[in-house]
Amino acid sequence: MDFSELIQHRYSVRAYKPDPVEEDKLQQVLEAARLAPTAANRQPFRLIVLSTVNRQADLRRIYHRSWFSQAPLVIGVCGIPGEAWVRRDGQNYHYVDAAIALDHLILAAADLGLGTCWVAAFDVAAAREVLGLPEEAVPIAFTPLGYPADQPGPKERKPLAELVRYEHW
Ligand SMILES: Cc1cc2nc3c(=O)[nH]c(=O)nc-3n(C[C@H](O)[C@H](O)[C@H](O)COP(=O)(O)O)c2cc1C
Repeated sequence: MDFSELIQHRYSVRAYKPDPVEEDKLQQVLEAARLAPTAANRQPFRLIVLSTVNRQADLRRIYHRSWFSQAPLVIGVCGIPGEAWVRRDGQNYHYVDAAIALDHLILAAADLGLGTCWVAAFDVAAAREVLGLPEEAVPIAFTPLGYPADQPGPKERKPLAELVRYEHW
């Protein structure tokens, strides 16, 4: 797949086969996240890889949809604000950096035939408890990682004219 095919092809997968994710594919998607750009190259994120085996109850506490724990793996990304670049007006970029890293992972997964789905609507307190997160880590998003068992729907996007301004708003 070339890049434009890849971004057309990626979609939010909400049904997964139980088939395992090969170790080399897991390492490839993690490597894609590692190579992501971050503000001032601070790399203020951590990826947490969870096996879903015997973790159904814990994972449902984090996010209640049944498909969330259907894939063999779930990956969470946390930001570390204390390690992140901070703009002069005080804006901390850990959220942006963590999102870029997870998106690199997600695109690499799609390239390998693996499915993912961004999940931000999770229970933060449950995530902190289940993952044993230290105070300095901010859970930002999760995704299942596994082989898709559904099909993409149509891509519904606003037209470019609505999304792009040239020179002036
Ligand atoms: C930051 C972010 C958070 C999201 N959170 C959720 C979520 O909690 N649950 C869910 O089912 N989908 C979630 N999604 C998936 C979006 O609904 C989906 O990307 C969007 O509808 C476009 O569809 P597509 O990914 O199939 O192209 C999230 C996507 C992003 C980028």
